[in-house]
Amino acid sequence: MGLFNKKTTEKTRPVPRHVGIILDGNGRWAQRRGLPRTAGHAAGSENFRRIATYCRDIGMDYLTVYAFSTENWKRSEEEIGAILGLLKKYLLEALEKMERDRIRLRFLGDLSRLPGELQELAARTGETSARYRGFQANVCLNYGGRDDIVRAARAFAAQCAAGERDPASLTEAAFSDLLYSAGLPDPDLIIRTSGELRLSNFLLWQAAYSEFYVTDTLWPDFTPEELERAIADFNGRSRRFGGVKP
Ligand code: IPE
Ligand code: IPE
Ligand code: MG
Repeated sequence: MGLFNKKTTEKTRPVPRHVGIILDGNGRWAQRRGLPRTAGHAAGSENFRRIATYCRDIGMDYLTVYAFSTENWKRSEEEIGAILGLLKKYLLEALEKMERDRIRLRFLGDLSRLPGELQELAARTGETSARYRGFQANVCLNYGGRDDIVRAARAFAAQCAAGERDPASLTEAAFSDLLYSAGLPDPDLIIRTSGELRLSNFLLWQAAYSEFYVTDTLWPDFTPEELERAIADFNGRSRRFGGVKP
């Protein structure tokens, strides 16, 4: 077999093309069980696998998860080490199963601050992913929305200084192409787990017209059923983009 059959035939409702998830609450999940925070990250990483597979199966095009922010370096060395260790484990497994699982991976963020071994693994998963079509999971790693915008501005300024571009030629679309998310549609729906009502520097530019769904559920407990509830809620909204709908 090996061929992946999209379950879109069973689909009875529209699925948003691009969903972003701020996967929060790993630490609290562990603390409530009397476990170290790192155990929460391990459970969260398992859940990413489950939810990404589900998103693929229902015919979503892109899932973008916030895995590590530019601000998360403030955490203890032990916690950061555990998160990066889990990422390495995930990437090694993903590389092995990519052909079978048909989950393409792309990374958004400044990977240069990550250990060399991880950068290499990320590059390899990216290259392997490029050979496939279909569902893509984007993992925001050492990502910050402000950092994303500043880098894009810097890149544009450098092109202007080099005489390659004219400041007056900059459009929103051209600016989007300078962001980490170049080529991706903006997220239609952004979900945040664990109840916090903030973006925490996630896709600031790209979220301009995203719909938001917040749940108190902690990320390791977030289920496909709850994702379905978020999608149903999203489908009931009226997206006007500043206009008027009859
Ligand atoms: C989200 O869970 C994962 C990362 C930010 C890396 P947290 O680790 O933030 O969990 P809480 O918010 O402390 O419960
Ligand atoms: C947001 O969660 C970042 C990620 C999910 C990677 P945080 O736990 O870092 O956000 P704050 O500190 O509660 O705003
Ligand atoms: Mg948190």
